[in-house]
Amino acid sequence: MFVKMLPSYAGLTYFGRLFPLKQLLRSSVKKFSSDKSAAVILGIESSCDDTGCAIVNTDGVILGEALHSQRSVHLDNGGIIPPLAGELHRQCITKVVEEALVSAGLKLKNIDAIASTVKPGLPMSLRIGTEFGKYLSRIGNLPFIPIHHMEAHALTIRMTEKVDFPFLVLLISGGHCLIALAESIDHFLLLGSSMDDAPGEAFDKIARRLKLRNIPEFANLSGGAALEKAASKGTDPNRFQFMIPMTRLQDCNFSVSGIKTAAIQHTKRQERLHEIEGDQLIPDLYDFCAGVQLVLTRHLCHRTQRAMEFIDRKNLIPEGNRTLVVSGGVACNNYIAQALETVSSEMGYKFLRPVPKLCTDNGIMIAWNGVERWKANCGVLRDQKEIEKVDIDSKALFGEDWSEKVSNERISCKWVKIPDPRIRKR
Ligand code: KG4
Ligand code: ZN
Repeated sequence: MFVKMLPSYAGLTYFGRLFPLKQLLRSSVKKFSSDKSAAVILGIESSCDDTGCAIVNTDGVILGEALHSQRSVHLDNGGIIPPLAGELHRQCITKVVEEALVSAGLKLKNIDAIASTVKPGLPMSLRIGTEFGKYLSRIGNLPFIPIHHMEAHALTIRMTEKVDFPFLVLLISGGHCLIALAESIDHFLLLGSSMDDAPGEAFDKIARRLKLRNIPEFANLSGGAALEKAASKGTDPNRFQFMIPMTRLQDCNFSVSGIKTAAIQHTKRQERLHEIEGDQLIPDLYDFCAGVQLVLTRHLCHRTQRAMEFIDRKNLIPEGNRTLVVSGGVACNNYIAQALETVSSEMGYKFLRPVPKLCTDNGIMIAWNGVERWKANCGVLRDQKEIEKVDIDSKALFGEDWSEKVSNERISCKWVKIPDPRIRKR
């Protein structure tokens, strides 16, 4: 909020060191390029707890990148404290952008446009990247491309794989959970989304309650990554049976808060029963984690399969050309990916997910989304007055809501059998 109230030049000191002023004004300011084909885009991500910046060209080559994660601070605090996240972005945004430029061996004069995540996310976090991006656009006289964080997650795969529209995309992260049909770079049909928490958020809260951090090999991992590792050590994923959410609802929406509550209640009961105190862990921890991961996986697979049945019924993707893309931090989970791959192959879909570092939040996906929009000349702002007016939208929706259309079809499915978590794919 306070950034917005600052006069235009105050940004230079507000964002910390004077790097942009010294380094960038010394170089001559570039005029807008009229060549829409070849370009170099600088992308900034700050919607949650990662400050990312990357420089990507229109061939999808990553010229430079930098990422600063706040994870350890938030792990110490037992969760993200939004004002602290905003403050940490403010402290490191200049350094991260500088690092990305230096790693690319480029200066602002070599950049053709700035892309920043402006929605959705934590307001105080979004504000920093948005204002910094606008500031670079102003001092460099560069076009500005406002980016929707979920659109960026959805399109990342196109940087490394040939994926034509339309395709099905499942986005599962700490802040979001949705399944959509990507029709073009800026048009999505939202088939379903979470009614409550996101799966990553549930993983994080369960991992915290289980005190997985007390196990040294998990100490520095995100909750989801720690839970996946713990689950892989389980020998009986069926020992703890959870109810699969929403089995009676014939739609593609998600709900994970019931699993979270059941897991936390179980932990409390076990602690009481075994008089567990302080840093001690509950018995059968690994089997319990395997059970949590299994029920979440089944739920994600069910909703995805119904989306595929809906697409089939409405013939929304030509047969023989069907692809499921999975992205977002939770897509790093290999068991979830393995299960979704099984569903995909049974349903006649090709399965794709970006490499882990591109699944979690990063600047590369924002720069790439900028590239996609630059190539399509879609949402590239060139007028400084218009750019100044760009504001964040922390609760922005995603796509055209088709969830009721899915529900109205009353699709019942014969569920694809997913692999036993004990059998690891090589
Ligand atoms: O996409 P992301 O970096 O940030 C958001 O936009 O939320 O996702 C972070 C989330 C965290 O909740 C983290 O626990 C989860 O992704 N995550 C995982 C794994 N790695 C990260 N969840 C399950 N299994 C993993 N291996
Ligand atoms: Zn994300």
